[in-house]
Amino acid sequence: MAVQDDAVIGFVRTMSDGAFAVYIADILVLPDNQKQGVGSQLLRGVLDHYPMKTFHHQVLIAERDADGFYRRMGLSAVGAFGLTAFIRTRDN
Ligand SMILES: CC(C)(COP(=O)(O)OP(=O)(O)OC[C@H]1O[C@@H](n2cnc3c(N)ncnc32)[C@H](O)[C@@H]1OP(=O)(O)O)[C@@H](O)C(=O)NCCC(=O)NCCS
Repeated sequence: MAVQDDAVIGFVRTMSDGAFAVYIADILVLPDNQKQGVGSQLLRGVLDHYPMKTFHHQVLIAERDADGFYRRMGLSAVGAFGLTAFIRTRDN
């Protein structure tokens, strides 16, 4: 969680078995605080907390607009590994 002047300005949520995989389920920075390094600091904290020398993969579902952000952080689209992501939501 990122806090400024006692207010939450960003957060990242993760799920992990603590051994093999970590799923990043949402990373969000308030519009007024975007493009100031908050998101990359939050994501870097997660990626470092679940290091690739221990974990097999770190994965997330990205909003199309956020593609560039994740690529900059060293992640690759699943298609590059011959994988497909599947999803079921309340809306379909
Ligand atoms: C995507 C998001 C988390 C990025 O957080 P942020 O605090 O704005 O990102 P940072 O300031 O740490 O940016 C790090 C780098 O990524 C770049 N970047 C940020 N958002 C980007 C985007 N949407 N597309 C491409 N590049 C982006 C920045 O320009 C910066 O590059 P630099 O290091 O060359 O200056 C934030 O914009 C956000 O909450 N967006 C709305 C919600 C959303 O889309 N969440 C992702 C859901 S999957």
